[in-house]
Amino acid sequence: MARSRAVFVCNSCGTDFPNWNGRCSACGAWNTLVEEAIPQRRAASQRTTPAPSAPAEISSIPENSGERSSTGIQELDRVLGGGLFRGSMNLIGGEPGIGKSTLMLQLAASMAGAGDRVLYATGEESAEQVAARARRTGSSKEGLLVLSATLLEDIVSAASSSGASVLIVDSIQTICSEEISSAPGSVAQVRHCASRLSSFAKPAGMTCLVVGHVTKDGSLAGPKVLEHLVDSVITFEGDSGHSHRLLRAVKNRFGSTNEIGVFEMTSGGLRSVAEASAYFLSRRRTDVTGCAVCVVVEGTRPFMVEIQALTTPTRYGYPQRSSSGLDSRRLPLLLAVLEKRCGLELGSQDVFVNVAGGASLSDPGADLGICLAVASSRLDRPLPGGVAVCAEVGLGGELRPAGSFDRRAREASVLGFPILAGCGEDCAEPRPAGCAGYSSLRECLDALLSPGARDGGSFP
Ligand code: TYD
Ligand code: MG
Repeated sequence: MARSRAVFVCNSCGTDFPNWNGRCSACGAWNTLVEEAIPQRRAASQRTTPAPSAPAEISSIPENSGERSSTGIQELDRVLGGGLFRGSMNLIGGEPGIGKSTLMLQLAASMAGAGDRVLYATGEESAEQVAARARRTGSSKEGLLVLSATLLEDIVSAASSSGASVLIVDSIQTICSEEISSAPGSVAQVRHCASRLSSFAKPAGMTCLVVGHVTKDGSLAGPKVLEHLVDSVITFEGDSGHSHRLLRAVKNRFGSTNEIGVFEMTSGGLRSVAEASAYFLSRRRTDVTGCAVCVVVEGTRPFMVEIQALTTPTRYGYPQRSSSGLDSRRLPLLLAVLEKRCGLELGSQDVFVNVAGGASLSDPGADLGICLAVASSRLDRPLPGGVAVCAEVGLGGELRPAGSFDRRAREASVLGFPILAGCGEDCAEPRPAGCAGYSSLRECLDALLSPGARDGGSFP
């Protein structure tokens, strides 16, 4: 008797198993295994991928480095390392409602305006809805074709018959292929559709951008299962309560990763924000306690942000530690350093730390800003206004110089902020005039927050 061919695939990480289990033993997620039919093996004559090319000497393969084209959107170009590579496969991930469709439509219009023929295939909205959005954001351009379709085969045939050089698929979770029986959005469909798109677009030299939703609970097959299939993965992040959005490259075969782009969502679509520091500091108040301005470097881009902290006496037994926009494991560590090395009592306090404007930071150079903001709130003394800080804090309470100091100092000087940096004993980097350096956190707190420091403390 013929056995039915099925596997159980984890919707969270994409691992497959021969049997169902309540918990995925690969990623530990509960109740994420779904049954998928194994696609039948096709005969070689029915293959959908192009025939393999013969192996060639590496030196004989022609260079195609001139094939990068600007998207016309400054911040997106920055993240991509100068523009989109012709024939590349790119994934744009982000939570629903963050602005992926808006960005893709603006990109499509910009590329169409530059002479490309762009096909925007949407499985989420009707062509009328896309057209209405395009009119609102000024993205109605000649050469921009819109197709509302959910079947992969329809999209592929429209792309090849329309002569498009750029194909945008919004989103990969809403399209499905006839060759796979499982539902749209399942791991098998997402993986199959992406690999079919890649094998169709690459040989044709068509640039392909695929939108993928990531949900917080991971209920849809996230872009995680696609990352190895694509050339670049760009994530769109932001807080729905804020108008700004951060674009990050988390994988880029043609450029550097961890570069960030800053956008503002306005009523007329997304706007590139070139002066990120001015934008993040625009609503800053200088007279309140618990606020520190930090110069951080995310990717290769320096910008200034305000770190805000609030300490209040604990009312319900166990003190709370809460942070947003920071690595949550970093805050307890820095609070322990403040207690042990600087004698700042925090055990009876709830501590809340926030990066103003909703930015998220991974730079350890933000440590000093976090410590100063917490200490300022705890001591109820504001920090001297107009000073930007950057240093990594060690467990011994020592301040270490943050990397790329020159770029940080230049960014701070544009807005007229003197910079205060960590300066270890062996600090080799020469500091420009107007910069103060401290080698320990205690020394820095004494200089900035001791009584009288504001009226002529040791800061230059
Ligand atoms: P959208 O691009 O549809 O998000 P996604 O494709 O990631 O799900 O953007 C949706 C949000 O953007 C929506 O909440 C409204 C907002 N928005 C604006 O504020 N201004 C605009 O011009 C547009 C087009 C959208
Ligand atoms: Mg969308």
